Amino acid sequence: MRGPEGRGSRSATFEARPNIALVKYWGVRDRTRALPYNSSLSVTLDRLRTRTRVRFDPKLGSDRVVLNGQEASGGPRDGVVRFLDRVREASGERSAAEVVSDNNFPTASGMASSASGFAALAGAASRAAGLRLSPRALSQLARFGSGSASRSVFGGFVEWRAGTRADGADCYARPLYGPGHWPELVDLVVLVRGAPVKEVRSQEAMQWTVATSPEYARRLSELPRRLAAIRSAIARRDPDRLFPRVMEECDSFRSVCETTRPSLDYLTVTSRAVLTEVRAFNRERGRPRAAYTHDAGAHVHVFTLRREAGRLRARLARVPGVESLTLLRPGPAARPLGPNV
Ligand code: DP6
Repeated sequence: MRGPEGRGSRSATFEARPNIALVKYWGVRDRTRALPYNSSLSVTLDRLRTRTRVRFDPKLGSDRVVLNGQEASGGPRDGVVRFLDRVREASGERSAAEVVSDNNFPTASGMASSASGFAALAGAASRAAGLRLSPRALSQLARFGSGSASRSVFGGFVEWRAGTRADGADCYARPLYGPGHWPELVDLVVLVRGAPVKEVRSQEAMQWTVATSPEYARRLSELPRRLAAIRSAIARRDPDRLFPRVMEECDSFRSVCETTRPSLDYLTVTSRAVLTEVRAFNRERGRPRAAYTHDAGAHVHVFTLRREAGRLRARLARVPGVESLTLLRPGPAARPLGPNV
């Protein structure tokens, strides 16, 4: 039987892709409502995906979470269970659930899996619980699992608006341009060897920055103009305007991390050498032809134009400690797979 009455089991499957932020989300103004201090902007990526099946079943005694073939426990399980509780509360569903989630990319691939993971979980759990959410409402739900997950609900170029209302009604993600908007733009993902395992989740670390970095207030005051400039450079498909601003934003993000106490230092010597190479590449080309960016980790995403990618790739492959280079493009929105059963 279907519906929230609780007899029989109900399941749904959803697929979502990771994203890389060009304007970073870093700082929460309201933890209960998961509201960020600033709006952010990202590109959803193709090829990589998380696929998640959720089944609510009254016969289950407690929630069961299987991530990449392994029964989850501790923090990762707790995060999923808390998220399921929220869906149960919104839908009236009372059963425990089984969650089975797989990534087609290794966790250590440099792609944050929390964005695609919680976007897929939000879609699968809400459908299995009988909720029919609009993509906007889905983005509002997904952010409770992971802020960046709100953006993975949509494909292509996506903005997550921070909003100003205390109740969060105007805080949601929205698609700016679809994945086919700028076919020339590609993301060369540079994986570095020996990237340290992340010990603290970003949603935790960013609050240390808010509390301790003397640079944070200035960053926030600069962001509206930078975001507008990046949005308009994307609208015009203008690399000369986009690339310098993307690097400026990444540098600002890195600077508030490094001035956090204790300091958040996510890069390795190799990551830093990659940034240096991208700067040198632009100097030699005489125009901005590439832009680096990185999240709270050591791997680097280098945006460039398709016609420059071969030359840049050969150059970055020579940087000692670079493990692999993968070319990705903007990818599609999250979506349900198959009928609910
Ligand atoms: C640096 O809260 O989405 O990637 O704690 O891993 O779930 P988790 O991350 P999240 O923070 C993302 C921070 C960022 C920037 C960004 O994606 O906007």
